Amino acid sequence: MSLPHGIRTLGVLGAGQMGLGIAFVSALRANVPVLLHDRSAEQVTKGLALMDKLLAKDVAKGRITADAAKDARARVSVVDALEGLRDVDMVVEAVSESLPLKQSIFGSFAATLRPDAILASNTSSISITKIAAAAVPAGVSPASAQGKQSAGRVVGLHFFNPVPVMKLVELISALQTTPETLDRARAFATACGKGDDLEGRPGFVSNALLMPFINEAIMCLEKGTATRDDIDTTLKLGMNHPMGPLQLADFIGLDTCLAIQQTLYEGTRDSKYRPSVLLERMVDAQWYGRKNGKGFYEYS
Ligand code: CAA
Repeated sequence: MSLPHGIRTLGVLGAGQMGLGIAFVSALRANVPVLLHDRSAEQVTKGLALMDKLLAKDVAKGRITADAAKDARARVSVVDALEGLRDVDMVVEAVSESLPLKQSIFGSFAATLRPDAILASNTSSISITKIAAAAVPAGVSPASAQGKQSAGRVVGLHFFNPVPVMKLVELISALQTTPETLDRARAFATACGKGDDLEGRPGFVSNALLMPFINEAIMCLEKGTATRDDIDTTLKLGMNHPMGPLQLADFIGLDTCLAIQQTLYEGTRDSKYRPSVLLERMVDAQWYGRKNGKGFYEYS
């Protein structure tokens, strides 16, 4: 079968809420076999249980047949080591928001994966240009044909949480990204059911807008301008937002919000991205939001 994106097998690195969602839409909507890797076996078990739940819900709602759910689930396999991804046509990295971690992973991809494989990152704020530079093998000049080819296959493919529901994917081009990489990544996101909204989106507009909004809400709470419930209710009832900003911050993950704000602040030095003290303290306390049961709200 000829596929516009040419992705016959996808690798997904990270089985957290984003990686799992990406594996889910790839297997179910784009019909692509997925190799999933996470260094935590516990995270893989949790992720696959969520996938089974989501598929069962789609069957119960009559959106897909039981056979389609079974086929989609069978398209997802787990690999124990990064080396298990060596033959994939594309990999999407969805690990936590740390530049050194991503640099090390993209360095390993460069050493392990086929030279024509697309290397995508689901980062929400880290420079794709810096990540692409890390995909040039040691000893190879970034200006050489091999260096340009290695970095040129790196692209940002930023999905939104919950991935099965949200229609947007931001496509982010590094300085080095080739037009062919961008076209194939766009075709793949479209095959995952991500509609027209991704067309031509410039990088990271979403968080440049969203993070100051969330931070302002946290500062309102910190200063005692309004209570948690008043802040969230105002945005839900007054602006029809599906979640208030504090609820949304918990949903995204407070550690993730802080990492994104720090990246934006360090990159721009613009005070509108400076994280609030309360957010920093909550992350220091390891209150990460919905993912570990305590944020602005409590979760059981
Ligand atoms: N995974 C998969 N599906 C989920 C889900 C999850 N974690 N949470 C909810 N859903 C599904 C539900 O199963 C339900 O699906 P069906 O229609 O098939 O039943 C649907 O979403 C609606 O859910 P509910 O009826 O339970 O609840 P709701 O109407 O309150 O909607 C919501 C839940 C879709 C999450 C909605 O509150 C919402 O849109 N919130 C805002 C989400 C948002 O802004 N996401 C972007 C965050 S920013 C980001 O991800 C990027 C970044 O860089 C930080």
